[in-house]
Amino acid sequence: MNIDSATAITQARYQRISSIYDRIEGMMEKRFRPWREKTWQFVYGPRVLEVGVGTGKNIEFWPRNIRVTAIDITPGMLEIACQRARWSGRQDDDLFLADIQHLNLPSRIFNTVVATFVFCSVPDPIQGLREIGRVVRSDGHILLLEHVRIDHPVIGPLMDMLTPLIARFNGASINRRTVENVRAAGLRVDQVLDLDKMGMFKLIMARPLV
Ligand SMILES: C[S@@+](CC[C@H](N)C(=O)[O-])C[C@H]1O[C@@H](n2cnc3c(N)ncnc32)[C@H](O)[C@@H]1O
Repeated sequence: MNIDSATAITQARYQRISSIYDRIEGMMEKRFRPWREKTWQFVYGPRVLEVGVGTGKNIEFWPRNIRVTAIDITPGMLEIACQRARWSGRQDDDLFLADIQHLNLPSRIFNTVVATFVFCSVPDPIQGLREIGRVVRSDGHILLLEHVRIDHPVIGPLMDMLTPLIARFNGASINRRTVENVRAAGLRVDQVLDLDKMGMFKLIMARPLV
């Protein structure tokens, strides 16, 4: 896998925290779990791609009768996901290292593409979303569970200010405008569900433009 220098920095950040990632996220996970479950309720196959599988927190929600392809750029994160997949009896699913910005897969093969909390860390999110638009079938759909920049006169700029610090620690930019990025990538936004009162966490449902 060839990656550019910005992607190598992201990879190194996640590699560094991979063994403690689940503990770092432990408190937040209580909040995230129902949102994960909700996201996976919209998934249909037969072919599903999970982008940025991380340590495999979604594996428990992978539909039983569907074979999932799951990718991540960070070896340490993927290794934990592979362990989780084995413990969960998901040996037949395909988990491998890959960069969503340059995916070595044929076009129009997936019925659903899912990513949870990934597009805060992909260095070129629009390029990554374009690749998703390429590999999803024209009758397929895209589900993104993401945190985004809040358009509030105080909180928004505060998020901009904190982003470099947080990104250095855990690889995530907390000020991404992911709904806008989805449109900029040439995808059609079908629906955006606000999951919290502040509008920071969203489930974005999109489709390729056909
Ligand atoms: C915040 S973690 C989220 C992990 C998981 N999706 C979850 O919900 O817990 C972001 C993940 O995206 C991966 N990632 C970042 N950039 C990527 C890229 N260009 N291609 C594939 N995965 C990427 C990171 O390695 C990391 O595992």
